[in-house]
Amino acid sequence: MKDPVVIHKGLDNVYVKESKICFIDGEASRLFYRGYSIEDLAAHSTFEETVYLLIYGTLPTKQQLQDFEKRISANRSLEPGMQQLLRSFPTTSDPMDVLRTAVSAMGLYDPQPATDKTEERIDKALRILGKAPTIIAAFDRLRNKKEPIPPESNLTHSANFLKMLIGKVPDPYVAHVMDVALILHAEHEMNASTFSCTVTASTLADMYSIITSGIGTLRGPLHGGANEAALKTVLEVGDSSRAEEYVTKALAEKKRIMGFGHRVYRTWDPRYVILKKLGKELASKEGQTKLFETAEAIEQSALKHLAGSSIFPNVDSYSGVVFHTLGIPTDLFTPVFAMSRISGWTAHAIEYLEANRLIRPKALYVGPTSLPYTPIDARTS
Ligand code: CMC
Repeated sequence: MKDPVVIHKGLDNVYVKESKICFIDGEASRLFYRGYSIEDLAAHSTFEETVYLLIYGTLPTKQQLQDFEKRISANRSLEPGMQQLLRSFPTTSDPMDVLRTAVSAMGLYDPQPATDKTEERIDKALRILGKAPTIIAAFDRLRNKKEPIPPESNLTHSANFLKMLIGKVPDPYVAHVMDVALILHAEHEMNASTFSCTVTASTLADMYSIITSGIGTLRGPLHGGANEAALKTVLEVGDSSRAEEYVTKALAEKKRIMGFGHRVYRTWDPRYVILKKLGKELASKEGQTKLFETAEAIEQSALKHLAGSSIFPNVDSYSGVVFHTLGIPTDLFTPVFAMSRISGWTAHAIEYLEANRLIRPKALYVGPTSLPYTPIDARTS
């Protein structure tokens, strides 16, 4: 007799590969990239160094890091065709759709988008990683009837992005906060978008297709889109005094509190801990504490109501507050998440391709078979 079919809806607890990239201990609130704790990376690393670590597996030497930073920053400018493309988009477009379309189009400007050589794949990924901030910032300026600001190769990835978006070089503390936020979003094991990229990589598709799949998957409100939804909640609540009423009503109506819950963490998301601390510090430095206090009141109230469950704050409970305080428009939060996560997607695609096997799961068919084909005129509704 055949074993009964087991359906893993949501693929909970299904392992698709061995990996040396990221370890999440969802019970102990720990997260490691290539063995290094997220707390250490947030405190001591830079986004560029973290990208190197994720892709190559080791921390770079000083020379390796300098070369790598140059490799990324040399990619920042957009070809005239890409600039023209951005100008042709409706100004009402969702920036995540713009990023997805632009990354896909970027492949058209690569004379040889497909390759089976690892280092060339990494080159293409760094081309996307280098240009993503330019695309996001340029589109935001264009839709606001402002000219895009060209990238500067002597600024860090974070400082250059904020300069292109806001129009001035950020002060070092602000650039540091942005950098830490990018480090925290760079990688998170086999989440939905990384799986999507892995599936595309397993077909031996090119890096542009791989990253485009990831952006499409990240877009949804249950994944990357939660940061926008969480901030909208905070803005809607508007004041800490209204938090309890909001949370009570939302939970009574069986609504989800955005920025809470996680498939892997059964306790605090360690990224949340870092972002909350940073958000508090940033809010007080910028003199904008009301938003932070409202987010904290929602968090306290949700924690009280959800006590006894395994639903805790995730990275998105404060990422929106931090991005908003940095001056980033709400609908750019998910594109900003994507511009960081390109690094993790790349690391996983490269790792999977080292021992590739086409990903091709099955669906258990429960419909009828052998139905008689009815001519269209003979069909009733
Ligand atoms: N607020 C209230 N209840 C919740 C929440 C929440 N945020 N999250 C889960 N639950 C409840 C859910 O209603 C369900 O209750 P019941 O069993 O009574 O129907 C129970 O917890 C289990 O929920 P689930 O959807 O089966 O759990 P999951 O493992 O699929 O959930 C999740 C993961 C992230 C989809 C979910 O927690 C959620 O929708 N959270 C809000 C969106 C969010 O913040 N997403 C960001 C995730 S972190 C960033 C990222 O990785 O992209």
